Amino acid sequence: MADARIVVKAAGKRFGSHQVFRNVGLAVGSREVVAIIGPSGCGKTTLLRAIDGLLPLTEGEVTIEGTPVAGPREGVAMVFQHFGLFPWKTVYQNVAYGLKLAGASAAVIAEKVPRFIELVGLTGFEHHYPYQISGGMQQRCGLARALAIEPRVLLMDEPFGAVDAQTREILQFELLRIWDMKPTTMVFVTHSIDEAVLMGDRIVVLKGRPASVHEVIAVDLARPRTRATLAEPRFVELRERVWGTLMAEARKAEFDVTQ
Ligand SMILES: Nc1ncnc2c1ncn2[C@@H]1O[C@H](COP(=O)(O)OP(=O)(O)O)[C@@H](O)[C@H]1O
Ligand SMILES: [Mg+2]
Repeated sequence: MADARIVVKAAGKRFGSHQVFRNVGLAVGSREVVAIIGPSGCGKTTLLRAIDGLLPLTEGEVTIEGTPVAGPREGVAMVFQHFGLFPWKTVYQNVAYGLKLAGASAAVIAEKVPRFIELVGLTGFEHHYPYQISGGMQQRCGLARALAIEPRVLLMDEPFGAVDAQTREILQFELLRIWDMKPTTMVFVTHSIDEAVLMGDRIVVLKGRPASVHEVIAVDLARPRTRATLAEPRFVELRERVWGTLMAEARKAEFDVTQ
């Protein structure tokens, strides 16, 4: 891919004797959303952490904008499944934190924090602590913190996995709306087939033990994607296709667990 912003080459990760994945290759374009889907434990979070520079690979490498990733770097932001907020900081302080780390001046912080809090619909809750707001609102805060640094790479680790179904749907469409305003490189890890199809330009299916890329599915649904997208025949077709790919593995995993 000519304009790939993230390139993962022959990536492998082992913890002790446990080889989690191997020979994973992936390229993500500068305005592309790649959804990664695969059974629990196949290494999705581990791969995302390697792209974020939080954890070294045992084989292969990740490059971002042509430079090998050796640690956390400027312009890369992650949204965590369990929100990853500081409980002792307010919404405002949590959003400001990422900017501070990125070296933003007080003036930039004062301008950006309210703007991104508004973008995610949290105006009025600036001085609330995480325990005082719902899970969906906590994740809006996590999203504002990531977006405020105006990342060139946005890494999402099952960001809506811990909220209820209705909130999840609202947040999915809000994220799509925000992404459409300013498309950037996004890797979106999920275990929801519908979410992978809705978000992704391509879906990478991880499977096997150790896991590797089993299939890459192009999602040829037009953007902007809205609630109407969910009713398109092509959406249903793609969902069935991903389901078929994952199903054999899911059943196998279920039997492994009950043995
Ligand atoms: N720091 C670690 N030390 C040892 N094993 C780990 C560590 N992190 C993850 N693992 C193991 O690696 C595998 C993949 O984990 P993970 O990346 O969280 O999977 P997923 O996100 O796909 O559910 C799991 O078996 C998990 O127990
Ligand atoms: Mg995970």
